[in-house]
Amino acid sequence: MAAAAGSSSAAGSNHSLLSLNPKPLCCPQGGFFYAEIRHTYAGGQTNRLGYGVRPPVWYSFPMTQYPHGMLVTRTHDEEARQAYAMAIRKHLAANVAGGNRTAYAVQVEPPFVKAHGHKPKDRHEVREVMTKNGYYQFYSAMQRHTQEMTFDSVIDSVERQLPALIDRAKALDGKAGGSLKLNPALEIPSYHTAYDIHLQPGAYHSEFTAGDVFAGALYDRATYLYAMGNLGPMMELFGRSLIAYYKKLVPDAAPKRILDVGCTVGHSTLAWKRAFPDAEVYAIDVAAPCLRYGHARAEAMGVAVHFSQQNGEHTDFPDGFFDVVCSHIIMHETSTRAAPRIFGESRRILAPGGTMLHMDNPRLGELSPIDGFLAEWEVTNNNEHFGGTYRAADLAALGRAGGWPADQVVFDFVPLEMPPKVMNYTTKAVQFPCVTARKDVAVAKLAAE
Ligand SMILES: C[S@@+](CC[C@H](N)C(=O)[O-])C[C@H]1O[C@@H](n2cnc3c(N)ncnc32)[C@H](O)[C@@H]1O
Repeated sequence: MAAAAGSSSAAGSNHSLLSLNPKPLCCPQGGFFYAEIRHTYAGGQTNRLGYGVRPPVWYSFPMTQYPHGMLVTRTHDEEARQAYAMAIRKHLAANVAGGNRTAYAVQVEPPFVKAHGHKPKDRHEVREVMTKNGYYQFYSAMQRHTQEMTFDSVIDSVERQLPALIDRAKALDGKAGGSLKLNPALEIPSYHTAYDIHLQPGAYHSEFTAGDVFAGALYDRATYLYAMGNLGPMMELFGRSLIAYYKKLVPDAAPKRILDVGCTVGHSTLAWKRAFPDAEVYAIDVAAPCLRYGHARAEAMGVAVHFSQQNGEHTDFPDGFFDVVCSHIIMHETSTRAAPRIFGESRRILAPGGTMLHMDNPRLGELSPIDGFLAEWEVTNNNEHFGGTYRAADLAALGRAGGWPADQVVFDFVPLEMPPKVMNYTTKAVQFPCVTARKDVAVAKLAAE
């Protein structure tokens, strides 16, 4: 197919469609057509973005991360290390993780049954025996190692470019009409400062220099690698999935104001603005370096969002201000006391008829004992300790504890819009639990039991 041309620009950079190539690709994320976009930064460095597209379902697979104007560029060696980190994670997920079930069935469960007269009844009993199994120990050590390796591989790129990224963030301010309001006096909750969540050095909130965007830049790139590209080139999969669910729940929805709680760098937030371009979209987080980066990223991508540094447990928004208050995978990183407060605060700032949607990581309790044990790997090995409680809790009860009447809040499931190509655990994990509520309106589950 002949080369096609076209271009668009962000501050200090531009990208152009280079070619459409009908050759089949031989990678698991490949398709029948391949389009490539080259993105050149002001400094002359170039990133390439590719899309594979395959019939009969006409959707694109991410080949690389979308090279927006704040994304770190990579030298040849940095790119190689990052590609290796993602490749070995994919290898573990596709070729090694599944072997845990075989090891369990062949080496672990039979002696347990012999000793106890019954199979392990839950993930806790599986944990007792499975953590002594050599195959699992090898898998777990590799998972942990690749998580650390992923951050290490990106840190070099961010450190090398930090002053330029800070300058670029300042230059992008005001380009798309969004805003940024920081509150240096905000107390960072202890569930954040207790440890570096999912092993990100310094976690989301640490700042080391004026105008720091380090944590945001690191998170953006490392999360793309961590998710093995499953979240899409713009990392919008969670946002898009929750929007599709919301549109089914409220078919005639035309929200005027939307709030995304715990936005980090706005991966999901931007999807909401794209879906509802006439709405004012707000995004809050406790972490200033992520908000600075997220604001600059949104401006670079031409999407107007109002970011502010606030705790979702108690915000400065007036009563009844929003039509939608949502979050994407933050609740498991809060605490048992914080969760009902966030649900209660969401209710306060929602207008009558407004919708609350707090979507989080897959459940633990509803899975089989071995799948529940494998899915909680992040809890015990990846510094997500609070997640174990949240992911097994009665979520509708937490909603009621936050002040929601029983008929207005349910615990539902959100299907992912595009199921991941490579997963560590089980296909049931593509259903994401959600605390769904409508203010002053009775609400029912959408997902079948
Ligand atoms: C896993 S990340 C969320 C990812 C993001 N929502 C997305 O879809 O890309 C969790 C984020 O929640 C933020 N967070 C956790 N507790 C919070 C709270 N109480 N108020 C505001 N933000 C919070 C953290 O700072 C972190 O940036």
